[in-house]
Amino acid sequence: MGFPVERPRRLRQTPALRRLVSQTRLSPSDLVLPLFVREGVDEPVAIGSMPGVVQHSRASLRVAAREAVAAGVGGLMLFGVPTTRDAVGSGADHPDGILNVGLRDLRDEVGDRTVVMADLCLDEFTDHGHCGVLDDRGRVDNDATLERYASMALAQAESGAHVLGLSGMMDGQVGHVRAALDDVGRTDTLVLAYAAKYASAFYGPFREAVGSTLVGDRATYQQDPGNAVEALREVRLDVAEGADLVMVKPALPYLDVLRQVADAVDVPVAAYQVSGEYAMIEAAAAAGMIDRDRAILESLTAIRRAGAQVILTYWASEVAARL
Ligand code: PBG
Repeated sequence: MGFPVERPRRLRQTPALRRLVSQTRLSPSDLVLPLFVREGVDEPVAIGSMPGVVQHSRASLRVAAREAVAAGVGGLMLFGVPTTRDAVGSGADHPDGILNVGLRDLRDEVGDRTVVMADLCLDEFTDHGHCGVLDDRGRVDNDATLERYASMALAQAESGAHVLGLSGMMDGQVGHVRAALDDVGRTDTLVLAYAAKYASAFYGPFREAVGSTLVGDRATYQQDPGNAVEALREVRLDVAEGADLVMVKPALPYLDVLRQVADAVDVPVAAYQVSGEYAMIEAAAAAGMIDRDRAILESLTAIRRAGAQVILTYWASEVAARL
């Protein structure tokens, strides 16, 4: 046996060399901060399943938005937590619904200094917790839900959202919302399609964050975790229907899907590092089992390397400030 001819380690000798040849870099503007605004509270409320994340009051939402902008984040994604819910999710498209009120607060606070996004889905607003309205047999009614989404889209655009994040996984939702926006002249409002959204256990902590009442699961509309080809179909349809950006969600367990999607489309690709991904690292770090800061950066770098141009992460402000 001779000595090696090729010596890859030569490139790894010093921090300066490693930096020079580093292929994947994170910058603050890649990161989008999800925020929760809760109706009827004067102080932020801690979320037990997501240590460090809160349900904001209207006032604390503004403070968090200012901090995020100061750190240089690329955008904010707002979720609403209403005090009352009903079968059709009336709070979702009512101008005084908490999400729409919060959007107006956010735009008033940040203007155009960052990108303001709204979660467009009914699950936070329905008493049954599903992402759509139900038919008389209790099944999620795809086309009746599209009408609700169109109404929500107009309310959110009216409230100042730059980007609508369609997370409900109904068939045809992008095309329907795009047409509704265009009909009233809102051709400038962007659509971010949660194109490949899997029926995932990693959303568990989020359910507490929004006080979800869901019984059962979302397997009739969200994707089967074992399917990758189907993700490409969903993405193809959403781009054809007019999606400006597409997303893969969750992120870390689906890096292969993310890579395939990034290779297949010519629109920007986002990935959502979801609540369960956040909670796992925080819990392991709190138990002294993992180096928190390194694990956070490594997970985000991996998501970026797999093809995400934009990453939604609950650590957005912290990491943006650190970078
Ligand atoms: C639906 C929605 C969910 C998440 C974002 N949008 C929940 C679900 O589909 O069950 C999950 C986000 C997370 O887990 O961080 N409005």
